[in-house]
Amino acid sequence: MPLDETIQTDGPRLDGAAWWRTAVIYQVYPRSFADSNGDGIGDLPGITSRLSALADLGVDAVWLSPFFTSPQKDAGYDVADYCDVDPLFGTLDDFDALRRRATELGLRVIVDLVPNHSSDAHEWFQRALAAGPGSPERARYLFRDGQGENGELPPNNWQSVFGGAAWSRVTEKDGTPGQWYLHLFDSSQPDFDWENPEVRDQFLDVLRFWLDRGVDGFRIDVAHGLIKKDGLPDYTPPKDAGSMGGGLAEDQTPPYWAQDGVHDIYRSWRALLETYPGDRILVAEAWVEPLSKLSNWVRPDEMHQAFNFSYLESGWSAPSIKGVIDSSLEVFDSVDAPSTWVLSNHDVVRHASRLALTADNAQGAGIGPKSSGLPDTAVGLARARAATAVMLALPGSAYIYQGEELGLPEAIDLPDEARQDPTWFRTAGERYGRDGCRVPLPWEAASPAFGFNTTGESWLPQPEAWAPYARDAQEGDTGSTLELYRLALALRHEFALGSGTVEWLSGYGPDVVAFRNGQITVIANTGTVPVELPVADELLATVELEGAALPADATVWLRVS
Ligand code: NOJ
Repeated sequence: MPLDETIQTDGPRLDGAAWWRTAVIYQVYPRSFADSNGDGIGDLPGITSRLSALADLGVDAVWLSPFFTSPQKDAGYDVADYCDVDPLFGTLDDFDALRRRATELGLRVIVDLVPNHSSDAHEWFQRALAAGPGSPERARYLFRDGQGENGELPPNNWQSVFGGAAWSRVTEKDGTPGQWYLHLFDSSQPDFDWENPEVRDQFLDVLRFWLDRGVDGFRIDVAHGLIKKDGLPDYTPPKDAGSMGGGLAEDQTPPYWAQDGVHDIYRSWRALLETYPGDRILVAEAWVEPLSKLSNWVRPDEMHQAFNFSYLESGWSAPSIKGVIDSSLEVFDSVDAPSTWVLSNHDVVRHASRLALTADNAQGAGIGPKSSGLPDTAVGLARARAATAVMLALPGSAYIYQGEELGLPEAIDLPDEARQDPTWFRTAGERYGRDGCRVPLPWEAASPAFGFNTTGESWLPQPEAWAPYARDAQEGDTGSTLELYRLALALRHEFALGSGTVEWLSGYGPDVVAFRNGQITVIANTGTVPVELPVADELLATVELEGAALPADATVWLRVS
């Protein structure tokens, strides 16, 4: 197979020592990582006690999903106090200890900022309820009078991402039915009015609070949602649009996603970060398509990175993977930002299951025992390992979601009564939601709760079949997914793949992803027919190779001399 006929695609430019341009960032979901006090919910001391496992894996940074004061109606994405730790997870001192331990281990720490909405338990929302219509307290949120003769109809037709109307009606102090407030998510998550300077000032203070505590950056929740179109006009999304805004054409902009006004907010945040020493970052969670539009979030004076959800959604198909890689490198490079790559997070079906689904599953909809097109576990794992081996060879920055390094599948058979995602409740069980990707991690095959804690408690039940996935069962086994990740991360570092380029290799069929990044040649087979491999040193393979053929659902890294 000819390896020298190449088509050059530029990777991101390197800018001095900016760590985030090439970093591999590991997402910790605090509820489910490690539980130090045995109450069945993970916590900050638990994370600290297990951090060395992440340094050992070879990642550069951790991103912690929310651990702030919260009634936990949306697993902490409903924040009641942005500058304190929820007692479920520990204290501010525990956070400081975690950060110190991370620094000792050479890991950076990114925290999650949730600016689109607060919890309804936030002091501001409680004051808004008490103060009544027309008050400055209500003006921090999006309260409106209802339509209809007695205001009995919501102010517009917007739907919540989790299902049902995006408006709830309050009861005024005198006991009468009153105004409505907007919540793009659960009714316990009222949206702020970002046109209000008080809201902007509050969040600058929140950023300062955590920057002063030494964090290396922020993942910004719903970074495409803060500004709503003037007048809040009715809008009906096209049928195939994702509830978070994915799947739309460039000229389709819902009045609540991707409004131009969000960019000024991020410019002010970037300016604040620049006043701090070190290299601190803002990462956009913005479900904006196409990528050319998303690149506006990472222009030089805005955020540093944006999650590449187009990549996450590209499926196990070579043409689609190659297309997204090309457009990612092109559009992010055009604004001098690194591409990011991500396959799993706490909102989507784990890629060890998703890549083998045979029916469509929208982001956030989840799968459960009655879903159609359920995956074959072995096929899913093979594809997940192969897809990860493509991702970790790409230039730019990559995200790993806790548990994917163990090859964890989605927990499909959770009992209905255990489910906690608001999506499940707001759709009356029609959408299973995201609990299946949030089950506590297995650390030790033979311990209670697989070593998540010592009591055996677990806020979501762990499948009994998870013992072989436990970290201690995989350590030292070269065929394991854990050792595959460890090897890929070590090679990525050794061969500086994060700062490399993608050169497509010609001569392969349409089902093959074949490229060279520096000294490494990557070949992935998304088809069904084995692919003939060139003669070269094998550095990594996601399956045991027999002879010179790469089977279906496998990836190999070769070093060609
Ligand atoms: C995106 C978060 O990732 C998700 O978990 C959450 O439910 C919504 N934003 C609302 O905050």
